[in-house]
This record gives sequence, C-alpha cells and structure tokens, in this order.
Amino acid sequence: MRVLVTGGAGFIGSHIVSALLARGHDPVVLDALLPAAHPVRPALPEGAAWYEGDVRDPAAVARALRGADAVCHQAAMVGLGKDFADAPAYVSCNDHGTAVLLAAMAEAGVRGLVQAGSMVIYGEGRYDCAEHGPVRPGPRRAGDLEAGRFEPLCPRCGKQLAPGLVGEEAAADPRNVYATTKLAQEHLASSWARMTGGRAVSLRYHNVYGPGMPRDTPYAGVASFFRSALARGEAPRVFEDGRQRRDFVHVRDVATANVLALEGLGTRPAGSARAYNCGSDTPRTIGDMARALSAAHGGPAPVVTGEFRLGDVRHITATSRRLRAEFGWSPQVGFTAGMTEFAHAPQRRPAHA
Ligand SMILES: NC(=O)c1ccc[n+]([C@@H]2O[C@H](COP(=O)([O-])OP(=O)(O)OC[C@H]3O[C@@H](n4cnc5c(N)ncnc54)[C@H](O)[C@@H]3O)[C@@H](O)[C@H]2O)c1
Ligand SMILES: [Zn+2]
Repeated sequence: MRVLVTGGAGFIGSHIVSALLARGHDPVVLDALLPAAHPVRPALPEGAAWYEGDVRDPAAVARALRGADAVCHQAAMVGLGKDFADAPAYVSCNDHGTAVLLAAMAEAGVRGLVQAGSMVIYGEGRYDCAEHGPVRPGPRRAGDLEAGRFEPLCPRCGKQLAPGLVGEEAAADPRNVYATTKLAQEHLASSWARMTGGRAVSLRYHNVYGPGMPRDTPYAGVASFFRSALARGEAPRVFEDGRQRRDFVHVRDVATANVLALEGLGTRPAGSARAYNCGSDTPRTIGDMARALSAAHGGPAPVVTGEFRLGDVRHITATSRRLRAEFGWSPQVGFTAGMTEFAHAPQRRPAHA
C-alpha cells in the first residue's frame, strides 16, 4: 500500500514510516520540518520517498498524494504553545492544514484516512461517585490546588470520586486551543468521509513516549522533562502529589496501531468516520513514571513538589478496547521495559540548542 504520511519526519510519524516499511508498504513523507519541532534537520528513514512541504499548500499536497492509496495524517503543531497569541498558528496548521489535505484527497480520489487524534479532547478523565455514578467535575480551582486538594470532588455531593477509564463515547470537552484543533480535525474528517464516501479513523493517542521524543520544549510531554532533568544529573520534579494517573503508550505500539488501522480501513463502512482510544490500558501515576525513569537511569530519586499548573488534568486514562477488538491491536511494550529503554534513548535536540 502506498501511504502518504504527513508529519512523517516527526516523533511519531518517523516510527510510523519505519513500521510501514517493515510491513512491506510504500510510505511517502510530506513534512514542513517546522522549526519548533526540528531545530536541526532530522534524519529521515531510509527507503521512504519524501517531500519537504506544508499540508496547507495545495500544490505540495497534490504532488505528494500522487499514487497514494491512503493517508496517515500526523502533521500538526503539538503541545500547549506559549500563550494565546499562538492560537492562529495552531488553527492554521492543524485545521486549515487538514482541510487542504482532505480537499486534495477528495480531488485525487484517495478515500482512506488514518489520523492522529488525541485524548486531550476529553478534558478531564472519567470519574464515578459511589452515590451518583458517572459525574463530570469542572476545572479545578486555584484555591483547592494551593491547599493541596488535588482530587476533583463530586459536583453533586462533594465526596471523593473514583477515577475510571474514558471510552470514545465520552463527551468532548477540549479545554485549550490545541485540544480544540484536534477535535476539529475529527469533525472535518467526518464531513469529508460523508461527502466523498471515504473511510476515516482517528486514533486518540494517550501519552506517547519512546526513542526520538523531543526534549523539554514548551511542546513536549512530561516524560521528556523528567528524562532531561536526569540527563542533567537532577532529580525529576513531580508536580501535585505525584498521584495523577495517565496512560503511557510506547511510540512503537502507536506506530503499529496506525499500520493496522491503515490495513484494516477496508473493513469500515464507506462514508464513515470512527474514533479509537490508543493507550496501553495500564494506567500509571506520574510519580510511578518518574520513579521508573530515575531507577533505570541510576539518577536521583524524584522530588514531589506540590506545585501545579492550573490547566492540568488530574487523571486521564482510557480504555482502548475498541482498537483492540476492531483492528486486532495489542500493545507489546510494557511500562518497565519501555521506561528503561526511554531512560537511555536519544532525544531530539531542544529548540534552542
Ligand atoms: N506525542 C504525543 O504524546 C501525542 C499525543 C496525542 C496526539 N499526538 C498527535 O500526534 C501527531 C504527531 O505528533 P508528534 O508527537 O510526533 O509531534 P512532532 O512535532 O514530533 O511531529 C509533527 C510533525 O509534523 C510536521 N508538521 C507540523 N505542521 C505541519 C504542516 N503544516 N505541514 C507539514 N508538516 C507539518 C512537523 O514538522 C513535525 O515533523 C500530531 O498530530 C499530534 O497532535 C501526539
Ligand atoms: Zn456524588
């Protein structure tokens, strides 16, 4: 299968290109090599054709799409950005870019799309109250966080909640610009599928980590911050009380999920779009992750600081049952093995080096 991988020079995209090659497919990369993501020119996987170009450029997309059977859309500006002034750039790259790509696919008759979604669209995770069942606590208040009250409480009775696993039907609650653009990408793909008879799949990645992850830039994930601290000989600084639950999924497992979804697209009904959580299904805490990395690195034990960021979610963990059942995916890299590898794996150069 000839697959156009947008963002194929990035962290996840480059692993997808390798996984496609390993399965005998024919990947073509389109990547703008955004300076925020690539302060230095990255090494591209050998064996893949590639174009330097922007998904917002119709001519560049049309050229890269020639002969493609499907598209794996990873290109996006990621992370939270620095402040609201970044909003136009996020919307342009992620949503205008997706619209240009989908229009070119409609024109070229390419009818298969697997794209990178994100768990950020859920806002908070799932919570259950013993008395009221599933509830949706609002954003946490600064006063509570300052007082060390990190757990959201039941909005009806104020009692403790048990965190649960988010399913794909959970209502979307995007709480920042990036999350909003990731949700809009899914809606654009649904419209495209309906209007062209195409098949769209969105893989809502959870916290992806592994070799090639960018270092601590404003765009990177928490695993990167800890890894960089250890590389400097410092203890990872864990915010809140370290008991925030996340689902850490290895980048090679995410790459495999993309390949299986691309290969299985034909089993989906024409004209449909469907979202799938893509996580390991073994929730861990941020504290667990910091401890695993410190131990594997042989560095200082993590320090739990009680600091917080107002926009952070307390717990967000998913069930990826749907992805396992419908595409036969099963993550292979366990937490301890994955973190041990990550503790020593090369990271991408920081933006200011
Ligand atoms: N890393 C995670 O934990 C995570 C979690 C959820 C979702 N995602 C999604 O996965 C995808 C890949 O993310 P990543 O972590 O590999 O980030 P990354 O920054 O390493 O890769 C993104 C790539 O897209 C390219 N790109 C950006 N805008 C482009 C444009 N307009 N035209 C062409 N190329 C462009 C960049 O140059 C970069 O190579 C993104 O869509 C992101 O939203 C990532
Ligand atoms: Zn209650």
